[in-house]
Amino acid sequence: MIKQLKLLLISLIISVLIISILMPITLAESLNKPSGQQIFTINCAGCHPHGNNIIRRGKNLKIKALQKNGYDSVEQIKWLVTNGKNNMSAFNDRLTETEINQVANYVLEQAKNNWQ
Ligand code: HEC
Repeated sequence: MIKQLKLLLISLIISVLIISILMPITLAESLNKPSGQQIFTINCAGCHPHGNNIIRRGKNLKIKALQKNGYDSVEQIKWLVTNGKNNMSAFNDRLTETEINQVANYVLEQAKNNWQ
């Protein structure tokens, strides 16, 4: 009986140890990861669902269009998002520089993955 109790106690301690090591890692991951995507969903997906463009169809976010129109680098996308162009408004008053950087990286990454 005592032996069983000891075993139970040891396995309890081990589980607590494992959880306290893993928790901060998964927490940090969930805080960092989806932000580019979240920013896109909130600010961009209205006009650019799945990388399309509902206002000017040719000016979509697929890699071919980005290359053709000169937006196939993070720097150029950041510039466009910051300053806006024609019917696309500027986002410098709504997004921080960090957020613009994140969303620009997300767009280019998705374009390279064909918006899968
Ligand atoms: C109100 C609708 C609207 C919203 C919201 C919007 N865009 Fe646009 N976007 C446009 C239009 C219109 C163009 C075409 C601009 C032009 O060149 O005349 C465009 C062009 C672009 C291009 C260049 C595409 C190409 O092939 O030339 C990129 C990149 C882009 N948008 C990214 C974004 C991102 C990132 C966001 C969110 C932060 C965003 N857009 C939000 C309407 C929008």
